[in-house]
Amino acid sequence: MKHNTLVFALVTTLSATLLSGCSSPDNPTPPPLPSMDTQNLAAYGKMCAVAIRDLPAFNCHDGTMIPITVDGGKTPANYTANMDCDRPSLLPLENKQGQCIPFSRVLDLSNGDAQVAVLCRQKTIRTEQSPFFDEIDIVAHNAKDGSTCWFQASGTENQPLDGTNVPSPMALKSAGQYQQAMQYWQTPKQVHSAGCGNCHDNDPFMFSPFVGQVWDKVPTDPFGWYKHLGVDFKDWQPVSLSTRDNTCVSCHRLGVDFTSGKATLEATGQIPIPNANAWAKTYPNSHFMPVGNFHSKAQWDEIYQQAVKDILACHANPKSEGCLTSAITGKP
Ligand code: HEC
Ligand code: HEC
Repeated sequence: MKHNTLVFALVTTLSATLLSGCSSPDNPTPPPLPSMDTQNLAAYGKMCAVAIRDLPAFNCHDGTMIPITVDGGKTPANYTANMDCDRPSLLPLENKQGQCIPFSRVLDLSNGDAQVAVLCRQKTIRTEQSPFFDEIDIVAHNAKDGSTCWFQASGTENQPLDGTNVPSPMALKSAGQYQQAMQYWQTPKQVHSAGCGNCHDNDPFMFSPFVGQVWDKVPTDPFGWYKHLGVDFKDWQPVSLSTRDNTCVSCHRLGVDFTSGKATLEATGQIPIPNANAWAKTYPNSHFMPVGNFHSKAQWDEIYQQAVKDILACHANPKSEGCLTSAITGKP
């Protein structure tokens, strides 16, 4: 009888100790329960780590610098706010210093079919050695089935990001890691509102003359499966646009939202590109599709002019006659 009471007392004390001992570094406080229509970073990150790959922590300085040049390939003596250049970034940087900001870096964290591009963006003119960056963007994509995840971290004017010690946004093994990642990265809901999938609408990776300078450091999957993971991103349902045998979609798809519209206009010299210099505005540089355009203007017009017209007409009205749309999906 006495013996039994003792055992009971021991068990009670023991379980109370276990229950209260939850927040040691190796025994994290569980993150808040996910709701049905949004995921926290930990749940999304874990999902992406399983479907694509677990990312390591990384250092932006291990990436390759994207040059900013003038006069057709020269490094300027100094970089100035709102200067023009050969290959401005096509993503509107929404800063005070324009589109020709030096020292952004691209890091390829791919591993086989797991294709991962990291862009550590500068929106402020700093030095090449500066540890600080304004924005870090990740596209993580599994070429086997199309699963794709998006991450973004944003600094502020007074508090830029330290890009030399970037925590993984994915599988977070301890409470410490979780806290650090939560402070650094946006939530999936915030990333969704940045609209990544609306621009990256034809495939995960986006070429521009700016990032094209280091295109060997960016994975590509132009005709692959493509779908967005995570409940926050469920309204990103990519659709491709074409007309029958259109020459502009022989090397890649174009998507209904951005790549068949504004991006096509930019790629074919039809709208001004902010901070593009005279070199950038001169043919063939003004027509940067196809990549490495080697045609004379007369040849280009002959091959591509009608194709581009057709694409733009279908972009304006995808339901009109002759326009072909089709859902871009993951592997069923
Ligand atoms: C307004 C259109 C637009 C939006 C929105 C957008 N991107 Fe991009 N992205 C681009 C363009 C254009 C490039 C090519 C680089 C350049 O010219 O700035 C690019 C390049 C990238 C790259 C470098 C690798 C590559 O594909 O070239 C990454 C990584 C990236 N974007 C991630 C993101 C993430 C993450 C988001 C959302 C948080 C996002 N992007 C939102 C247009 C966009
Ligand atoms: C000879 C091949 C080729 C042809 C033809 C071609 N492109 Fe491209 N284009 C590329 C490559 C390579 C990329 C990088 C795409 C990738 O690998 O995802 C690209 C990217 C693009 C992009 C950015 C979206 C992305 O996926 O990176 C746009 C917009 C684009 N092309 C428009 C056009 C238009 C408009 C035409 C017709 C005038 C055209 N392209 C014809 C090779 C081509």
